[in-house]
Amino acid sequence: MLEQVTVPAVRARKRRLGAEPLVMVTAYDTPGAHVVDRAGVDIVLVGDSVAMVVLGHDDTLGIDTAMMAHHVAAVARSRPRALLVADLPWMSYHASVEDGIRNAATLVRAGARAVKLEGGRQRVPVVEAIIGAEIPVMGHIGLTPQSLHVMGGFKVQGRQADAVEALVHDARALADAGCFALVLEAMPDVVARSVTEAVPVPTIGIGAGPWCDGQVLVLHDILGLGERGLPRFVRQYANLAADATAAVAAFAADVRGGGYPSAEESYHVGEGVIGPRRCDRQP
Ligand code: KIV
Repeated sequence: MLEQVTVPAVRARKRRLGAEPLVMVTAYDTPGAHVVDRAGVDIVLVGDSVAMVVLGHDDTLGIDTAMMAHHVAAVARSRPRALLVADLPWMSYHASVEDGIRNAATLVRAGARAVKLEGGRQRVPVVEAIIGAEIPVMGHIGLTPQSLHVMGGFKVQGRQADAVEALVHDARALADAGCFALVLEAMPDVVARSVTEAVPVPTIGIGAGPWCDGQVLVLHDILGLGERGLPRFVRQYANLAADATAAVAAFAADVRGGGYPSAEESYHVGEGVIGPRRCDRQP
């Protein structure tokens, strides 16, 4: 049996030290977690993207810690070998450091083994406090969807020279505060490369080019199971939405045409138990 992926094992996965790239994929429920874990990923992320991908919101701001914990528990019930990381949602760590510790603990009690939070050097106090409560923290910089309104939309970050310096500064501050890995979202490839070179912990890119120490994608985007327009960095490996629609349409046609259920798909009683009614012909 393969060993469980641990935080120290992830922290050690720096490509410049010869490590294989990390693979992280989201999951929000038990069957999704089974799919992702059986595929052999290193990290399963219960992302706050669940708000958009599964719950139909336009952004990630509508989900709170209790809702996240519900999804974390569903993923944890699959008992993944992969490291289970859960997103701290918007406003669960912004108002106070104490909020951050308490909400991180709620996600750990639901089954997470580490939490992820968004933002740069301004998050150092809350990162240190959560780690001080023995909960490992993954950072997330670049396009941080919880800052959607400040950023003016889901926009690529780090295109200006001063923004590049700021991202490197943020990454160093988070690594120094104890983050065991950093997500780099939607930034030019060379910027992600500079950030990756600047920190001793692995970077995991999403729309951040090939030089990160790992890559993450949203499960439903990989599977083609969603209605959202896909960003250019998504590589879709299946078209399950079309397959699923065709399967349900075939079921509907069978019901309407009298082809479902068959005798084999029905339960029966012995002759005479319910009288002379015959069940071997169409109703
Ligand atoms: O919420 C999420 O799914 C994420 C990933 C896209 C990194 O934060």
